Amino acid sequence: MTEQRPLTETTAKAVPVLPDAQTVTEVKHYTDSLFSFRTTRPASLRFRSGEFVMIGLMGDPDPKTGKQRPLLRAYSIASPSWDEEMEFYSIKVANGPLTSKLQHIKVGDQVILKPKPVGTLVHDAVLPGKRMYFFATGTGFAPFASLLREPQTYEDYDEIIMTHTCREVAELTYGRDLIEGLKSDELLNEVIGEGFWKKIKYYPTTTREESPKMGRITTLIENGELFADLGVPALDPATDRAMVCGSLAFNLDIKALLEKAGLNEGANSEPGEFVIEKAFVG
Ligand code: A2P
Repeated sequence: MTEQRPLTETTAKAVPVLPDAQTVTEVKHYTDSLFSFRTTRPASLRFRSGEFVMIGLMGDPDPKTGKQRPLLRAYSIASPSWDEEMEFYSIKVANGPLTSKLQHIKVGDQVILKPKPVGTLVHDAVLPGKRMYFFATGTGFAPFASLLREPQTYEDYDEIIMTHTCREVAELTYGRDLIEGLKSDELLNEVIGEGFWKKIKYYPTTTREESPKMGRITTLIENGELFADLGVPALDPATDRAMVCGSLAFNLDIKALLEKAGLNEGANSEPGEFVIEKAFVG
C-alpha cells in the first residue's frame, strides 16, 4: 500500500537553492576578527591567481515584501588558479552587513559565488624581473596566498619578498602558517618545483604588539631597514617589481614610495613594474 502523506507546508516547500551557490568545505578561525574558509569551485570558473570575485549570502527578508536579496562583497581568491577548491580570508565585523553573518558559516553551508573574476594583482599586469615584492597589510594577504602557490610567480622572479604588516602578532597567523606549509606540501613541490619555497623571503611586522620586527613597512622602506634586514639593494626599477594589497591609505603611501624609486604602475592592458589593489574591508 502506498503511503499517502498530506501535503503540508514542509513537504511542499522546495529546498531553497541559492543562485551561484557553492558549498563550504572548511572553516578556520584565527582571531576574534579573522577567519578563512574553503568552498567547492564552480565547474566553469577560470581565474588568474591574484584576482577577486563577489561572494556573499542571502540578506534578511525585506520586512514589507518578504523578498530576499543577495548580500555580496568583493573577496580576493586566496587559492591558486589550479586548485580544485576556492579559499577566502576574511575579517569579521560585528555590525558588518555581510561578515557579521559570514563569520558563522559552517562546513556544508552554502555561499553565493559569482563566477566573474577580475583584478589587477595578476602576472599579466607586471613585467618579469629579478625580485618581486608582495606588500600586504591585514587581510590584504589574501591575493598573495594565491600568488605564493602559483607556479608563474617562481618562473618570472628569482626572489619573492613577502611583507605582511598587522597590528598584532595573532593577525599574522594565516600568512605565517601558509608560508610554513609550502615547505612540506608535496603537491606544490611537485607542481611548482622541488624547493620552490626557498625563493621566498618572509618579512612579518607588527605595529601595536611587541614582536621580533616592529613598524610599518612604509617606515622600514624609508629608513632602509627592510633592505638591510634582507640583505638586498634598495628598490630599483631595473630589477624590482611589486604587488600591493592593503587599506586605501596604505596603498597610496606605498605607491608614492614605489614611484619615488622610479617604478611605474602597470595594468592588465599595459604591464608595468607594480600593481595595487584595495583589500576587502567589511
Ligand atoms: P598602524 O597600527 O600603525 O596603523 P589597519 O587594520 O588599520 O588596516 O592596519 C593594518 C596594518 O597596516 C597596521 O599594522 C597598520 O599600522 C598598518 N597601516 C595602516 N595604514 C598604513 C599606512 N598608511 N602605511 C603603512 N602602514 C599602514
